[in-house]
Amino acid sequence: MFNSTRIDQFKNIPTPFYYYNMELLENTLDLIKTEASRYGYHIHYAVKANANPKIMKLIQTYGFGADCVSGNEITRSLETGYTANKIVYAGVGKSDREILTALEAGIFCFNCESIPEIELINELAEQTNKTARIAIRINPNVNANTHHYITTGIEENKFGINRWEFESVLETLEQSKNIELIGLHFHIGSQITDLSVFKGLCLRINEIQEWFKERQILVNHINVGGGFGVDYKHPDENPIPDFVSFFGIFKEFLNLTPSQELHFELGRSVVAQCGSLISKVLYVKNGVNTKFAILDAGMTELLRPALYQAYHKIENISSNGEEEVYDVVGPICESSDCFGKAVSLPSTKRNDFIALRTAGAYGEAMASRYNLRDIADSVFSNEL
Ligand code: LLP
Repeated sequence: MFNSTRIDQFKNIPTPFYYYNMELLENTLDLIKTEASRYGYHIHYAVKANANPKIMKLIQTYGFGADCVSGNEITRSLETGYTANKIVYAGVGKSDREILTALEAGIFCFNCESIPEIELINELAEQTNKTARIAIRINPNVNANTHHYITTGIEENKFGINRWEFESVLETLEQSKNIELIGLHFHIGSQITDLSVFKGLCLRINEIQEWFKERQILVNHINVGGGFGVDYKHPDENPIPDFVSFFGIFKEFLNLTPSQELHFELGRSVVAQCGSLISKVLYVKNGVNTKFAILDAGMTELLRPALYQAYHKIENISSNGEEEVYDVVGPICESSDCFGKAVSLPSTKRNDFIALRTAGAYGEAMASRYNLRDIADSVFSNEL
C-alpha cells in the first residue's frame, strides 16, 4: 500500500493526517456502479461516513445521490454537486430548521421515523406551500449481529416505526394533505459481514409489503439502507467489498413489482478502505510489563477504537526491524485513547510513520477538538 516514494512524500506533510487512495476509491465506485446498474438499483452515498468535499465530489461524479442525516449534510451535498432530487434525509430528531432546509431544497424523500415527525413535516410543508415526499422508516425487527452500538433495526432501538404502529401511521397520513407517501425505508445496522442478515431483511420486507398491498398501498420505492461491512483485518487482501454477492442477494430474495425502484444508502463499504490515518511515533516508553508506542494521533482523530473497541490494522510503514510487541496509544488524557494492545510491529522508534488502516469511513467524520487539538488535514493520492 505505501511504497518508499509515497513514504518520502509523507515526510513533507505535518502529521497526523488522513491519506486517501483515490484510485482505490475509483475502483470501488466503478464496481458499485457496474453491479448496481445491472439491476437498475439507485445508490445514495451515506454522507455521515465521510463528508470530505473532495471525496463527496468524486462519488457524485458516478451519478449517485446522497443520504443525509442533518440539514448541514443536505447543504454540503448540494454544495458538492448532488442534485436535490437524489437526496434522502433520515434521522429520529429532525429539527424544524432542518426540515425547512430540506423542503426549501426540494429533496427526493424524507425517511420518517415517527408519527409526530410526520405531523410536523406536514405542518411545515403546509406553511411553505409544499408537498413533502416521504418514506416510512420501518423497524423490521431483524438483528444485524453487529456491535450493539451500531445495531438499529430491532424493536428496542430508537429508530424507525414499529409494526404495531402502522395503522396509526396510515390514519395520520390520511389527514396529512401536504405529504405524499412514496416509499418504505429500512436500515438495520452497520458493519454487517454476514450476507444472510440481508437475506433475512429481504424476506421481512416481502412480508411487510404484503401487509401494505392488502390495504391497496403500493409505494414506488423501497430503500434498504446501508450496512454492508468491510474487512478491517485484511485491508490489502480485500480492498473492495464483494458488491456482486451483496446486490445479488437483493435481486434473488426481494420481491419487487416491475414499477418499484430499489434504493441503497451505502457509506462504509464505499469509503472505508481508501482511507488511512497517518501518524508519527512521538515516544517509545517502557511500562511495567509493556512498551508503549505513543503516537501523535489519538481518539480525537480516530474515535472508533475508543468508542466501539473497533479494530483497525496498525502498521509501522517505515521500519523493517525485528518484530516486537507494543501497546499503541495516543496522546489524549484518557486511558481509552488506545489503538491496540500487544500489537506486533517491526522495532519502532521516534519519528517512524504509523498507518491506521481502513479509516476512510467514520474516521475524519467523527474527529473532535477535545483537548483543543487541531483537526487533522486530509491528503489525496492524486494530488501528491
Ligand atoms: N442509512 C442509515 C439510515 C444509517 O443510519 C446509516 C449509518 C447508513 C445508511 C450507512 O451505513 P453504512 O453503509 O455506513 O454501514 N459510527 C459507526 C457507524 C454508524 C452508522 C450509522 N448509520 C462506526 O464507526 O462504526
